[in-house]
Amino acid sequence: MTVHFIGAGPGAADLLTLRGRDIIARCPVCLYAGSLVPEEILSHCPPGARIVNTAPLDLDAIIAECRAAHEAGRDVARLHSGDLSVWSAMGEQLRRLRAEGIPYTVTPGVPSFAAAAAALGAELTLPGLAQSVVLTRTPGRASAMPEGESLTNFAATGATLAIHLSIHNLSRVVADLVPAYGADCPVAVVYRASWPDEKIVRATLSTIEAAMGEGVERTALILVGPALAAEGFDESCLYSTGYDRRFRPQGARE
Ligand SMILES: C[S@@+](CC[C@H](N)C(=O)[O-])C[C@H]1O[C@@H](n2cnc3c(N)ncnc32)[C@H](O)[C@@H]1O
Repeated sequence: MTVHFIGAGPGAADLLTLRGRDIIARCPVCLYAGSLVPEEILSHCPPGARIVNTAPLDLDAIIAECRAAHEAGRDVARLHSGDLSVWSAMGEQLRRLRAEGIPYTVTPGVPSFAAAAAALGAELTLPGLAQSVVLTRTPGRASAMPEGESLTNFAATGATLAIHLSIHNLSRVVADLVPAYGADCPVAVVYRASWPDEKIVRATLSTIEAAMGEGVERTALILVGPALAAEGFDESCLYSTGYDRRFRPQGARE
């Protein structure tokens, strides 16, 4: 028996990996993390599967579900939104499972920052403008930020910022970023990327708050940085005509 952690992707049901789909289809128990996992993904569960929304459960109750399945020899598909490597609460579940000797696997998913970038049709790392993406958040009711991980510190790098769990904090985000990025720095807010009600708001740091309008709350990403609205960036060497590289050696052509 194994608990299979699966990244269920950002929302669209077909942004689930084939491996994730196949594991779900053979697990008689499915624990899924609330409304961010679309119903359509649950339709991959086999007939008669025990399907439990874990949103109202605490960690003890979730582990009790895994323990009961373990004792009954029933595999569990454990679904979290996006990818499991960021803000999934997988770490604490794995630690409990290790302590109880319950085996697990981890199958990655499409993270929401990638779905948001796709919705924008944007590459977040443009030559000469930004070569790093910072996945971060602002402090929440239950989660303080470790010292050093402040937005002002990340802003000092000039990287593209993908700010999660923070749409309710937009004015604070703007105030922290304007000194380093400037009031004209492009911003995009992507609400429910890849869901049917996806919305995109593009603006600058000085205009984003006024541009927001109604109805964008909770499941939204704030992307900030010069790469977001730029046409004036360098072309990469990768495809440049004269660049000598392993798969396109210039000597060979001649
Ligand atoms: C608990 S975190 C989950 C992150 C997830 N594990 C991932 O890989 O993106 C929830 C936050 O992720 C972002 N998020 C998740 N799904 C999203 C989507 N479809 N569109 C925009 N933002 C999303 C929002 O910032 C939301 O507040």
